[in-house]
Amino acid sequence: VTEADEALCERLITAYRAALDGRPSGSQTSGMWSWIYDGWHQPLAQLLDRRDARALARELAEMFRKPFMLGLAPSALMSHGQPRLGARIWRMRALDGLVSLAEGLGVVPVHEPATGTRTTRAFDGGLADLLERVEGRLGFSVDFPDVGAPYGLLIEGRLITMDSPEQIHTAVRLDHALRLHLSPAAGEAPSIVEVGGGYGATCLWLLRRRAATKRYAIVDLPIVNVLQGYFLSRVLGDSAVSLFGEDPAQVVVAPHSGLADLAGPHDVLVNKDSLPEMPAEAALEYLRWARSACNGIFFSCNQESQAPFQGEELGFVPRMVEQAGGYSLLRRDQSWVRPGYVEEVYAVGGSG
Ligand SMILES: C[S@@+](CC[C@H](N)C(=O)[O-])C[C@H]1O[C@@H](n2cnc3c(N)ncnc32)[C@H](O)[C@@H]1O
Repeated sequence: VTEADEALCERLITAYRAALDGRPSGSQTSGMWSWIYDGWHQPLAQLLDRRDARALARELAEMFRKPFMLGLAPSALMSHGQPRLGARIWRMRALDGLVSLAEGLGVVPVHEPATGTRTTRAFDGGLADLLERVEGRLGFSVDFPDVGAPYGLLIEGRLITMDSPEQIHTAVRLDHALRLHLSPAAGEAPSIVEVGGGYGATCLWLLRRRAATKRYAIVDLPIVNVLQGYFLSRVLGDSAVSLFGEDPAQVVVAPHSGLADLAGPHDVLVNKDSLPEMPAEAALEYLRWARSACNGIFFSCNQESQAPFQGEELGFVPRMVEQAGGYSLLRRDQSWVRPGYVEEVYAVGGSG
């Protein structure tokens, strides 16, 4: 933990407290993420309430090994990967993600068990060859940045975490959607708003792919703003990321209460793995907001299980979009990398 880490944590604490504006930490949301707050975020909230920048910096320096990452990164379940069998399953899962990413990129043939060989051809040239092909097509390294004590598989000097193939795949699909569905000018340097950004993975990999992105704003719960603000600042540099109450940088991290104050115009609304988990009214509010604030596309990658949680069903994006009105479906595809997840692109705003 360096002085720069502590200085960043001072800024994160100031932004967090400004976002809460005197309200108690536990009042940030209801439903699933209130349950996550009660179970896993409280120790972090106590550090923020005490304004203890040094202790916060120590926690965040190991964020990927901490229980408060539950729901944001597989690392919260790190102990599951420690027994030999668990480690083996996790290794297979990371490799499976890498092969699916390679298949989605079209750099290895898709495995088809009925007519093809019994195993994928992806490893025919060895792991180094597989990585070389993936990175050649992506145009950037898949090595996960050394921030927050991440862990996963080290292959040819690149760290592949349990979720990085999926996160990279989403950024690639978002990049395709920008090229296909926005005007050339907006597609080249889009202004993006992501709701529910987790630790900032989609933002990070999209910027790796498309450095000319004009603005990437993430709107989230104040306590998760702290996690994404830390991760993205450490990876991209402090000056590339602004926090609540600061002058906007290329990456803007804002609380849900700051949505209306984001400087527009916006070309894209992004949501990955989160609208279904939000309170229904909060999710609808985002979609209604984008109908007038966003002139371009809505890119969604979400599960559609509608599983019950505390007596209510998780949300279903196509139904929410219909309720909000003003969206028209352009594409609907299953994820190459994460079974059960659906990628959708809607036109919204002036082009909808
Ligand atoms: C399962 S995580 C997914 C994170 C990220 N999109 C990913 O796929 O890695 C759900 C995200 O939704 C956020 N979230 C939950 N309720 C929210 C709300 N009311 N407004 C904005 N974000 C919310 C969480 O804090 C978290 O970042």
